[in-house]
Amino acid sequence: SDPGLVARARAAKERLGDRVFVLGHHYQRDEVIEFADVTGDSFKLARDAAARPEAEYIVFCGVHFMAESADILTTPAQQVVLPDLAAGCSMADMATAEQVAECWDVLTDAGVADVTVPVSYMNSSADIKAFTGRHGGTICTSSNAERALRWAFRESEKVLFLPDQHLGRNTAVRELGMTLEDCVVYNPHKPNGGLTVEQLRDARMILWRGHCSVHGRFSLDSVREVRERIPGVNVLVHPECKHEVVSAADQVGSTEYIIKALEAAPPGSKWAVGTELNLVRRLADRFAAESEGGKEIVFLDRTVCFCSTMNRIDLPHLVWALESLLQGTVVNRIQVEAETEKFAKLALERMLALP
Ligand code: 13P
Ligand code: SF4
Repeated sequence: SDPGLVARARAAKERLGDRVFVLGHHYQRDEVIEFADVTGDSFKLARDAAARPEAEYIVFCGVHFMAESADILTTPAQQVVLPDLAAGCSMADMATAEQVAECWDVLTDAGVADVTVPVSYMNSSADIKAFTGRHGGTICTSSNAERALRWAFRESEKVLFLPDQHLGRNTAVRELGMTLEDCVVYNPHKPNGGLTVEQLRDARMILWRGHCSVHGRFSLDSVREVRERIPGVNVLVHPECKHEVVSAADQVGSTEYIIKALEAAPPGSKWAVGTELNLVRRLADRFAAESEGGKEIVFLDRTVCFCSTMNRIDLPHLVWALESLLQGTVVNRIQVEAETEKFAKLALERMLALP
């Protein structure tokens, strides 16, 4: 990266000192991760943002829903900045407040809303989190989805899982021992979600028809191909991958889990990792070193690319955000509206309190 920009980022951070706290999701570019005070998966970053009440500014290097969650969990005096407002998440965009309200009407008409609790993946807008809080549900991330679902099924008979059908299905089937038949998919673009009243009554998991455009591209063929190409390879994937991919993998987990699994792996072992490319490249470089065990790490499918919205946060945007703060201007502030925040916070706090 541009040495001039690196020096400017370093100088701005130094001058801001403890007034600023920079969070970096594991999918961020190397040039950005270098300036993160803490890195993590979505769960860890939400907790870390909440644990820094002394920082005036939280600069969130990640995507929009993460910055919203940080705003909800920090104090009203703290200001959250997303260095590029175009850093959204295509999965989060797949569930709008209007669509979800309509879905709840469909469940109500079918007579199942009373026995359904919503569980929403962190990768959703603050509006969806507020809907979840209003209806007694919880947020989950890929690192606590099992605990969230176990909690939900103690509360209620059915779960409406938003918006990632894959995380919902993978967790229900792999961790809770449900069958694929226990799950139905609600399609917001079809009347009544494309489901009959009987289907809604019989289902235990009502999965929203959303997915991650990056993880959705890993296929069963990519798993077969890498196993043929690299004998003895271990396949490690994120639970946003399709059920057939997750079923064919050796290990499944959040980005933080993936890092820990590779840290614990025996020296010389071989791994094909199915998650975002910035992270996989960084891990491949890190673990190739003899001092880190000389582990061979490859990207599960060479045709899959970066998460384009995560990549929007680059060094020029980070420098601009930090230097603006130095000059007393808060650019790209993410601020969730009060009523939405109140209910979204309820749902997020339920997640933080999961047993
Ligand atoms: P985690 O970091 O929680 O595993 O989530 C991955 C992701 O897709 C974030 O957008
Ligand atoms: Fe959204 Fe997928 Fe990118 Fe994560 S990797 S931010 S889920 S599009």
